[in-house]
Amino acid sequence: MTQDQLKRAVAQAALNYVLPKLHSSAIIGIGTGSTANCFIDLLGEHSGSFRGAVASSDASAARLEALGVPVFDLNSLDQMVAYVDGADECNPALELIKGGGAALTREKIVAAAADEFICIADGSKWVETLGRFPLPVEVIPMARAYVARQLVKLGGRPVYREGIITDNGNVILDVHDLQISQPKMLEQQINQITGVVCNGLFALRPADVVLLGTADGVQLLRNRVAL
Ligand code: 5RP
Repeated sequence: MTQDQLKRAVAQAALNYVLPKLHSSAIIGIGTGSTANCFIDLLGEHSGSFRGAVASSDASAARLEALGVPVFDLNSLDQMVAYVDGADECNPALELIKGGGAALTREKIVAAAADEFICIADGSKWVETLGRFPLPVEVIPMARAYVARQLVKLGGRPVYREGIITDNGNVILDVHDLQISQPKMLEQQINQITGVVCNGLFALRPADVVLLGTADGVQLLRNRVAL
């Protein structure tokens, strides 16, 4: 199977997983990226059977609306049955690196607010230790050089993602060469650097369920710590 076929397979598995949770007043959180787009396209066929969605990016919001799915401001809601999103890396603790599409901050907010976080990923995203994919860090523009120096002190090699402004008006540093043996600790350390808005480690709030697309089919992995 190609990577695109695996992305479609995990999106279909996610739809099968969430459909029983959707009802006329249900809100679902939707992520960003090519795998999330596969899910949006499938979800659009069921737009009448739930209330609507919260999107983690302007791009996903536009795609949902084009398919007839109402998109809500998170502030107007008090519950979300699930959040479905892709990832750039996933380890056996279902901790993730996200932010390849520069939507990490809103993704982390929607994941935090959702009852259940369902991550959909093709098998190329599976790693034993996080850090092969450069860790995205969203930074207030005027703090970029300062934050980069602090990230070097943590052992990383930050690279400015040129030409990218996030939906929140900030910039991204992609941090290479990190061996992330303690993801929760590093997530907290980076959060504490003044000028950092958010970093792409999802370890303090990992996925609850990962649907992993492999040549042998879609594997459902549950977070035994979270549940
Ligand atoms: C966007 C993300 C995406 O989930 C991540 O980059 C994976 O993208 P894709 O599904 O296109 O491989 O975190 O900020």
